[in-house]
Amino acid sequence: MSNTTGMANLNLTGDDGTVPTEDEVNPWEVHASSATGVDYDKLIKRFGSSPIDSALLSKFETALGQPPHFLLRRGIVFSHRDMDQILALHSQGKPFFLYTGRGPSSEAMHMGHVIPFLFTKWLQEAFNVPLVIQMTDDEKFLWKDISLETARSYTTENAKDIIALGFDPERTFIFSDLDYIGSSPEFYRNMCRVQKAVTFNQAKGIFGFTESDCIGKISFPAIQAAPSFSSSFPRIFNSRSDIPCLIPCAIDQDPYFRMTRDVAPRIGCPKPALLHSTFFPALQGCQTKMSASDANSSVFLTDTPKAVKDKINKYAFSGGGATVEEHKKNGGNCDIDVSYQYLRFFLDDDQRLEKIRQDYSSGDLLTGYLKKELIELLQAFLKSHQEKRKAVTDEVVKQFMTPRKLKFDY
Ligand code: TRP
Repeated sequence: MSNTTGMANLNLTGDDGTVPTEDEVNPWEVHASSATGVDYDKLIKRFGSSPIDSALLSKFETALGQPPHFLLRRGIVFSHRDMDQILALHSQGKPFFLYTGRGPSSEAMHMGHVIPFLFTKWLQEAFNVPLVIQMTDDEKFLWKDISLETARSYTTENAKDIIALGFDPERTFIFSDLDYIGSSPEFYRNMCRVQKAVTFNQAKGIFGFTESDCIGKISFPAIQAAPSFSSSFPRIFNSRSDIPCLIPCAIDQDPYFRMTRDVAPRIGCPKPALLHSTFFPALQGCQTKMSASDANSSVFLTDTPKAVKDKINKYAFSGGGATVEEHKKNGGNCDIDVSYQYLRFFLDDDQRLEKIRQDYSSGDLLTGYLKKELIELLQAFLKSHQEKRKAVTDEVVKQFMTPRKLKFDY
């Protein structure tokens, strides 16, 4: 699969047909060399971030007076940069804000896309802070074979799904790069400052750009960096440039923010802190992540109950025994079983999840039952999501996407 589209490259084999031995993780490509998926401990070392350990989890609990979200407890949000500083700020009653984003690559979002947003929503409610959501329609125009108009229309469609997850319009600003940047001199100035601070050599080193990439791609990282700085949103932050930022994102976005953190002090802004999540696996197995361009690798937010059932039953990679006898004798392997892995992302009941894990590992619970549990959970989620999305009118989208002051004073 070519790497020119900007979509994650999901082949299990390298371009030359060989099985890679190193995990590949960058904004455009994610694949693991092992059936259990990416080795995230190694990634932490390679990227130089910090693991989310039990000490940090208890700091979370102390700061919030509630247990951290199950995605944190289960190690799905597994790595961070400077999260302890954010917790310290919060304890001192000092402000910070959240920034996350979405590259609107198609009209339909899948289950993997909603995880970071559900987690972000929890963070926003737990800390009661403003949230800005960048829709990088410009990025998708540059990387994919789509027109500006199409990219912009995907922004609206995706924004509806994001809004349907329950964000608060008084605390949340969603913006299209294509619309907002032209209307915000402050945002553009920050882009210019970043563009001046990074050389082509550095961009090549971080992102792997080549001489034949269009120049739009080469300067795009400045656009993804700019929302990390509060001065890019003067209406929200009363023109202050010193409000720190926390970015929840999947680990493949880290290169953008390594660059941003490197540049921040040189342009007089605080470095953004980060929370990194692991990938949501494709139905076919943990070596890849879900891809919007392969209908059978994903459960889409638009899928019917029957489609969900058929996809899970047909495609969800099983860690169970080949026969019932074998399964009862040896048990199932939760580490590679996609249905079990999905339950880890979506089933909030820790005890129920642990019971399923034990029963499946011992062989008492058969793959069919495990899948049934997941199918019912996903069907219920999608039914409710699809109803909520219908209620998101163009008017509501406009409300979220209008540059404005939010419910916070600075
Ligand atoms: N580049 C991301 C994507 O393709 C979108 C994005 C922009 C983003 N800013 C972000 C994701 C900040 C996480 C955090 O999906």
